Amino acid sequence: MRPSATNLLLLIATCCFLHSADAGQLDRRPAADEGTPSCIPKERDALLEFKHGINDTNNLLVSWQHGQDCCRWVGVTCSHHTGHVLRLDLSDATLLDDSLDGQQLSPSLLSLEHLEYLDLSTLTTIWPQGPNISSPEFLGSLKKLRHLDLSGGLRFSGGIPPQLANLSKLEYLDLSGSSFSAGRVPPELGNLSNLLHLGLSVMDMYSIDISWLSRLHLLQYLDMSYVNLSMAVDWPHVLNLVPSLKVLNLAECNLPRTNQTLAQLNLTKLVDIDLSSNYLGHPISSCWFWNVTTIQSLELSKTHLFGPFPSSLGRLASLQRLVFNDNGNSATMSVDLKDLSALQHLHLRGSLSHGNIKDLIDKLPHGNIRDIQQKMTGNFTSLFNLDLSDNHLTGAIPSGIANIIPIIEILDLSGNNITGAIPRAIRNCSSLDTLILHSNQLSGNIPILPRNLTRLDLSMNSLSGPLPLDIGALDLETIILSSNYITGQIPESICEPQYMEVLDLSNNFMEGIIPQCLQMQSMLFLLLSHNSFSGILPSSLQGSILAYMDLSWNKFNGTLPQWIGDLACLRFLQLSHNMFYGHIPSNITNLRYLEYLNLAGNNLSGAMPRSLPNLELMTDKHPKLLIDWFESYTGPESDAFGGIMSVLMKRQERNYGDRIDGVVGIDLSCNQLTGKIPDEITSLNRLLNLNLSWNQLSGNIVDNLGSSIKSLESLDLSRNSLSGEIPPSLADLTYLGYLDLSYNNLSGRIPQGRQLDTLYAEAPSMYDGNSGLCGPPLQRACSGGKLPENGNQNTSKRISESKFLYFGLGSGFIAGLWVVFCVLLFKRMWRIACFRIFDEICDKVYVFVIVTWRRFARKEDTGS
Ligand SMILES: *[C@@H]1O[C@H](CO)[C@@H](O)[C@H](O)[C@H]1NC(C)=O
Ligand SMILES: *[C@@H]1O[C@H](CO)[C@@H](O)[C@H](O)[C@H]1NC(C)=O
Ligand SMILES: *[C@@H]1O[C@H](CO)[C@@H](O)[C@H](O)[C@H]1NC(C)=O
Ligand SMILES: *[C@@H]1O[C@H](CO)[C@@H](O)[C@H](O)[C@H]1NC(C)=O
Ligand SMILES: *[C@@H]1O[C@H](CO)[C@@H](O)[C@H](O)[C@H]1NC(C)=O
Ligand SMILES: *[C@@H]1O[C@H](CO)[C@@H](O)[C@H](O)[C@H]1NC(C)=O
Ligand SMILES: *[C@@H]1O[C@H](CO)[C@@H](O)[C@H](O)[C@H]1NC(C)=O
Ligand SMILES: *[C@@H]1O[C@H](CO)[C@@H](O)[C@H](O)[C@H]1NC(C)=O
Ligand SMILES: *[C@@H]1O[C@H](CO)[C@@H](O)[C@H](O)[C@H]1NC(C)=O
Ligand SMILES: *[C@@H]1O[C@H](CO)[C@@H](O)[C@H](O)[C@H]1NC(C)=O
Repeated sequence: MRPSATNLLLLIATCCFLHSADAGQLDRRPAADEGTPSCIPKERDALLEFKHGINDTNNLLVSWQHGQDCCRWVGVTCSHHTGHVLRLDLSDATLLDDSLDGQQLSPSLLSLEHLEYLDLSTLTTIWPQGPNISSPEFLGSLKKLRHLDLSGGLRFSGGIPPQLANLSKLEYLDLSGSSFSAGRVPPELGNLSNLLHLGLSVMDMYSIDISWLSRLHLLQYLDMSYVNLSMAVDWPHVLNLVPSLKVLNLAECNLPRTNQTLAQLNLTKLVDIDLSSNYLGHPISSCWFWNVTTIQSLELSKTHLFGPFPSSLGRLASLQRLVFNDNGNSATMSVDLKDLSALQHLHLRGSLSHGNIKDLIDKLPHGNIRDIQQKMTGNFTSLFNLDLSDNHLTGAIPSGIANIIPIIEILDLSGNNITGAIPRAIRNCSSLDTLILHSNQLSGNIPILPRNLTRLDLSMNSLSGPLPLDIGALDLETIILSSNYITGQIPESICEPQYMEVLDLSNNFMEGIIPQCLQMQSMLFLLLSHNSFSGILPSSLQGSILAYMDLSWNKFNGTLPQWIGDLACLRFLQLSHNMFYGHIPSNITNLRYLEYLNLAGNNLSGAMPRSLPNLELMTDKHPKLLIDWFESYTGPESDAFGGIMSVLMKRQERNYGDRIDGVVGIDLSCNQLTGKIPDEITSLNRLLNLNLSWNQLSGNIVDNLGSSIKSLESLDLSRNSLSGEIPPSLADLTYLGYLDLSYNNLSGRIPQGRQLDTLYAEAPSMYDGNSGLCGPPLQRACSGGKLPENGNQNTSKRISESKFLYFGLGSGFIAGLWVVFCVLLFKRMWRIACFRIFDEICDKVYVFVIVTWRRFARKEDTGS
């Protein structure tokens, strides 16, 4: 899901007004007309009792009041003739998280004897935080129910009540997404012979014998995803007895296989099959469903199916979606798909073992001009989306691409071995909205872009030359061109797109100034690091809503402007390794959402700002954001931002991929800062990384640094003029993986602590250049008796030699990891899962090489 420019404002709004719930949400159809019977008092009381059981924090049921006509209440519909409540529909009551409080779904609802329709879906939307409620066995007594929807996140303490089977009129039953205590799906549900819709996507459930399903003769919709069906070996034969079936979702069901042969295929109405995330592990062509010619949507991601696609695929004339992602690169596609004129989504990411991009594109259905016109004028609503990423594909993108697939909307060929230039004809793909070609071996210049492009990612290729003077696409929202060989200046035409959100030109050979005209009003991510850009910070940045700004490793100069404190939405600010000078503006601490500040390697002077506690997100005072729009961009579910963001920490460049939230740090190293380290720093108790090295800071190290910032993983105060003793609180820092206090004027006894001893063993130079320090682990005794200078030297040399082996082991391990890491880098889902593991390993790698290796191996097993 990609947040677009249009919902940008909405996201920002949620950033600021988290709790102003949309109380108008339930503003719905008027209840009963004037003159119809008003509600039955007994039923009103029942509803009020029900309301009483709900924690209606957002006052969505404010209209439910004593003494009023309950037929006019929100969510309630009565019979025009009798006044009995027929429908109770609270499905629109979203955002009512934690609203069902405690014990029960009130059995008072039993009094609503005439209820036909009960929808409590999404009553609690945030799963699994909701409280437990006891299982609603009593619902089995509402004999008139035809529609029962409890989907969306209720947590029941019992199993699925078999009593539901008593609701013989039921046509619609949905419990999906709710959670029950683990158990068996009650086979009694087979008695619900009128059922058309059965939603049972419930975790921790199993069904051993699913033959009860064959008694649901009218069933059209079946969703049992997540239910453990590992024992239901013969499931296709059972379902073959339900010929009415249209939609079948058995994703993540532990299905053992799907290569059964059906002598007679009854499923002639099936349009939608989802078997993703089942370890099937047999040839693709042996699946039973290839002869079901009615199929419109087929999802088979993560099924470990392999081998060639069968030619019958080419005869599925109704097929609109084929989603076959992440199948371990062991499939091949040589089927001619030209007859699949309805095809809109073809997703084969990470599934093909090899192939030539031109051959593949040649096999696709060829749109013609008439198609385009039809599709453009709305006879078809959807265009063509093609994802062939991570498939070891070779060859060059054919220059006829615009004629071959003119209706293409999304093209993702990333993570292949595609060579050659991007054909200039791509300009003629007038419907192309998203073009993702990162991580290939593309060369040559960047051509003029398709007119309607909004998202472009060409990073990690070998593209060269300057950007085209005319970019050609006015609707661009995302441009990612990092890690190429692009030269020259940013052309003025980059200013034309009005709603740019992401501009990533980092790691190229670009120069010149940032054009003043660059549109900043919607810019969220600006990454220009590792180029040779120069000039002062453009004033057009002023008042922007930037969340991430990385201008590091360039030649920017001038002072840091006061208005930097007005960039109120900044989360990451990296201006390191430029030529900025002057003071750090004190109002930089107005950036209350800032999580990472890096001004290292400039020529900044003066004192550190004292108002550090204002950096609220670095403190634990900050309220947890209910809806964090930043996360919605950078979190695992989002592919809005594809760039790689990195921060230097613990002497390693750490890449966080999309997961940059939660990395909290300050790096002011390599400047000319003077004065004391402000005591206020101790309020930043979410800091992981603090680097103030290579400055001229003086005074003591804040006493309670270690006891206040417990989260600290890396602390570098080396090469300053700090004096006094090392505060004993540093020994409290249990997560500390790196400490450097060398080359200061520190004196006195070194505090003791196991963590400090371990760190010293790894980096014996951490106390160097402080002639006044004494006590173990140094050889210099404290009470007067000084050891000769070179004795000390010898010992530390010996220690470092004995550690050499350790270190060699460690760094070899890291190198090995990086190989794994690079392979994984481009596999989006993996990348996210892996970074967390990788981070953890970094912390302790030198010390616990073997132990962490085991842990890594184990985590990788379970994590995949
Ligand atoms: C209702 O919800 C609010 C906020 O979630 C909570 O503070 C309060 O304790 C809840 N009330 C009950 C009775 O659970
Ligand atoms: C409902 O079904 C259960 C069995 O699941 C049965 O024992 C009970 O008598 C039924 N109740 C009614 C009211 O029919
Ligand atoms: C299911 O229906 C059969 C008859 O069709 C009946 O004997 C049985 O008791 C029913 N079970 C439940 C749980 O209602
Ligand atoms: C599914 O059920 C089978 C047999 O009951 C069991 O061996 C297996 O562990 C279960 N799988 C999961 C993921 O719960
Ligand atoms: C469906 O196919 C099976 C054989 O697989 C057959 O026994 C059954 O009668 C067929 N018809 C229906 C309506 O289930
Ligand atoms: C079906 O696939 C399984 C592996 O999932 C295999 O063991 C079995 O032999 C296959 N059966 C047929 C009939 O191909
Ligand atoms: C599909 O149908 C063809 C005949 O049309 C038949 O030969 C083939 O065995 C069928 N495949 C499967 C998997 O049922
Ligand atoms: C784009 O299409 C037009 C006509 O449809 C053609 O004249 C032009 O050469 C094409 N451009 C490229 C770069 O192929
Ligand atoms: C650093 O800034 C000072 C003025 O604040 C200036 O005198 C000095 O030359 C600058 N040093 C470098 C290396 O730019
Ligand atoms: C702190 O910054 C200096 C200079 O930028 C760098 O050399 C050092 O490695 C950093 N320390 C840590 C622990 O990252």
